[in-house]
Amino acid sequence: MQELTLNENLLAAPVHVAGKPIEEVRREYGLERIIKLASNENPLGPSPLAVEAIKKALPNAHRYPGTVEANLRARLAQLMGGDFDEDNIIIGNGSCDVLRMVCLAFLHDGGESVVCPSTFPMYRIYTQMFGGNLVPVEARDYAYDLPAMVEKIGDATRLIFVCNPNNPTGTMLTQQQVDDFMEQVPERVVVVVDEAYYDYVADEHYASVKEYIEEGRNVILTRTFSKIHGLAGLRVGYGVAKKEMIQYLQHARSPFHVGSVNLIGATASLDDVEHIQRSRTLNAAEKEYLYEQFDRLDLRHIPSETNFILLPELRHDAVAMSEALLRQGVIVRPAGGFGVPGAIRVTIGTREENERLVWALEQVLHELTEG
Ligand SMILES: Cc1ncc(COP(=O)(O)O)c(C=O)c1O
Repeated sequence: MQELTLNENLLAAPVHVAGKPIEEVRREYGLERIIKLASNENPLGPSPLAVEAIKKALPNAHRYPGTVEANLRARLAQLMGGDFDEDNIIIGNGSCDVLRMVCLAFLHDGGESVVCPSTFPMYRIYTQMFGGNLVPVEARDYAYDLPAMVEKIGDATRLIFVCNPNNPTGTMLTQQQVDDFMEQVPERVVVVVDEAYYDYVADEHYASVKEYIEEGRNVILTRTFSKIHGLAGLRVGYGVAKKEMIQYLQHARSPFHVGSVNLIGATASLDDVEHIQRSRTLNAAEKEYLYEQFDRLDLRHIPSETNFILLPELRHDAVAMSEALLRQGVIVRPAGGFGVPGAIRVTIGTREENERLVWALEQVLHELTEG
């Protein structure tokens, strides 16, 4: 490759490393039964309505996607309510793809992104990929410090990324905090709010930023079918913004970038209100179960508004602990890559999976303490 001119921005952007797949752990450790609580997927799987719709769509897979993307955008706009219509929505190959388009659209001239280091790493990675400059603003008590982010806005600031609720801490920002923040952000800065875990939030003080979009502010919110809809493998996400903003972002899109079968599955999942409710109820009950068990094991945990829980300030090395859990057949995520070294993040599973996690934690804590 020495003879080639490479893109320095790409070389600076770390390659995304996913959580270990179940098959790999099975092979590596020779284990029969593996539980994956590493990627915040829905343990109940996809909606049966989505599976049915996907099967029905397969015989048409020889055609490029026709109106199916517009159908999904129209349905999403309807669910957003108010005056939203399909032109307020852009579909992505997962919501990551929307985040990528946003960075491509706004960081072309070496502009800055204000980013919290203890958050979803793709804001940082895409900023680097497109030659933008990072302005990090540390979290405070495992939550976004919005006043400190506002202070860092400068002439070169193009984007501010906010993850609400936040991955990997599970903490959320209240309506009041967001309002105070929005009052101070100048119009020339685009606020990107990642609401991937929006569906799990129970706290009444939470609010989506959609009302700011309705007011015409330069806000882009992103959501996904990968979490409560149980369709992470289909790679469908979306962005919502005012129409001019969406039109501009369309320039960053590849042709037919999400497959028709995937779009049809995602659209069908929106109709399965029961599945969504069941997923939410299970998550709420299992979160309480895990809190109790973590208390019993004297493991500090951050109260979560999502489908995962962060265990920070562990008494043992987080990577060693995750590897020891792997040997017990449980895959979790050390949170170093999410800017919280010394912590692990566990996805809330079914009762059976959670019991297995607790059992494995007991073994591992014993093993590491005994040395
Ligand atoms: C905060 C956050 N945003 C976005 C994503 C990615 O979503 P998608 O699968 O839609 O690309 C994740 C996935 O873990 C996430 O945690």
